[in-house]
Amino acid sequence: MIYLGSDHAGYRLKREIIAYLETVGASYKDYGCTDGEPVDYPNAAEETCNALLEAKADGDFAILVCGTGIGISIAANKINGIRAAVVTDAFTAEMAKLHNNANCICIGERVTGVGVALTAVKKYMETDFEGGRHARRVDKIMALEK
Ligand code: RB5
Repeated sequence: MIYLGSDHAGYRLKREIIAYLETVGASYKDYGCTDGEPVDYPNAAEETCNALLEAKADGDFAILVCGTGIGISIAANKINGIRAAVVTDAFTAEMAKLHNNANCICIGERVTGVGVALTAVKKYMETDFEGGRHARRVDKIMALEK
């Protein structure tokens, strides 16, 4: 399951991502928002990431979109259990999974065009965590929560 959230500056790109997920038959849940009425991105991050964590399902992940991807990623990373990565293209998306095992990718609608954003989502979904030395490092990241 893919958990989607955005603020008012990201709902258009989120809509494009939803259309892409539908074309590839991926399951998703959309936690808003759906129009340009201003909302606060920490709320979107909290609601979407809590839903992801409550599901406790391996392989599930979140995609968050705001204007830059930055604010919503900062908020998401305050939530224990979330490893959120700002991704701007297919390479950063690949690395976010391969090396960081990010369970949340954050994209900026005002930064990354639709075509590039969709290739980033595709690459993230196709990539597996490499493990090994990267697992040790990710474990150390998670230990910082305690
Ligand atoms: C909203 O105007 C904007 O600040 C927000 O979407 C995001 O870019 C924050 O990091």
